[in-house]
Amino acid sequence: LPQYENILIEDSQKPGVALIRLNRPKALNALSSALFVELNDALKKLEEDPETRAIVLTGSDKAFAAGADILEMSTLTFAEAYSKNFIAPWSYIMTLRTPIIAAVSGHALGGGCELAMMCDILYATKTANFGQPEIKLGTIPGAGGSQRLTKAIGKSKAMELILTGNNYSGEQAEKDGLVAKAVDGGNKEVVDLALTTAAKIASYSRVAIVAAKEVVNKSQDLGIREGVEYERRIFHSLFGSQDQKIGMKAFAEKKKPEWTHS
Ligand code: CAA
Repeated sequence: LPQYENILIEDSQKPGVALIRLNRPKALNALSSALFVELNDALKKLEEDPETRAIVLTGSDKAFAAGADILEMSTLTFAEAYSKNFIAPWSYIMTLRTPIIAAVSGHALGGGCELAMMCDILYATKTANFGQPEIKLGTIPGAGGSQRLTKAIGKSKAMELILTGNNYSGEQAEKDGLVAKAVDGGNKEVVDLALTTAAKIASYSRVAIVAAKEVVNKSQDLGIREGVEYERRIFHSLFGSQDQKIGMKAFAEKKKPEWTHS
């Protein structure tokens, strides 16, 4: 991958796992359009790399990201925002088939929280600082926060957070079900947890992992009956994969499966 200015691609030391670090320390990793050009470029290249089977996205001890870049937005007009579809490129991450885990320490505010919520699994430190403070700026969440936060923690809690702009800790976010786990410590500890999970995901058949991610994501859009039917069809389709045969044969023979990812 090329050298980027606003993100770092680090050696994860784990087979099949890529580690991306948001890196605008002077602006608490505020998410500028330039940052997203680079992030999306890196994600596209990793998605095309057959060796990358899971991605971890993190920031620093101080900030995962303190939101969209307020300085960039402050003079934006309606016509520019609308005609250029401002913030739409952020959704590129949602098209990835490769699982992506957010490892959050420090601030995850506004667009920072929204970016974390776009990831497949969210881990945080107990002291991480989540919030949708857009209301304090005279605006509202613009990168899916009103939808994803509400799905994750329910309407009443999400409404309270979005209408007040109150912050909440990683510990609270775990209790509310927004994050899968909140850990003691800082960025290193939460990244270690994310890398361990990513390495486990990367050790399985890619075709099964992609299918599993697809069906879980469908639950966000479909009613239960259509969702279960959708899952069953994808489940059926996996009988056409080599890895289903390999996995079940290995179980019967008490051996470790050697995945072909096909
Ligand atoms: N955009 C641009 N710059 C930002 C930023 C942001 N979202 N957040 C922080 N920065 C910059 C600050 O301007 C400051 O720069 P200077 O040193 O040049 O003055 C630097 O980062 C350090 O920030 P602070 O001095 O404010 O640090 P602090 O520790 O005192 O406070 C903070 C930290 C509470 C996170 C505070 O920076 C803050 O409130 N930031 C804004 C949070 C916010 O409102 N986010 C939502 C943005 S709107 C949005 O995201 C829309 C959407 O839905 C997509």
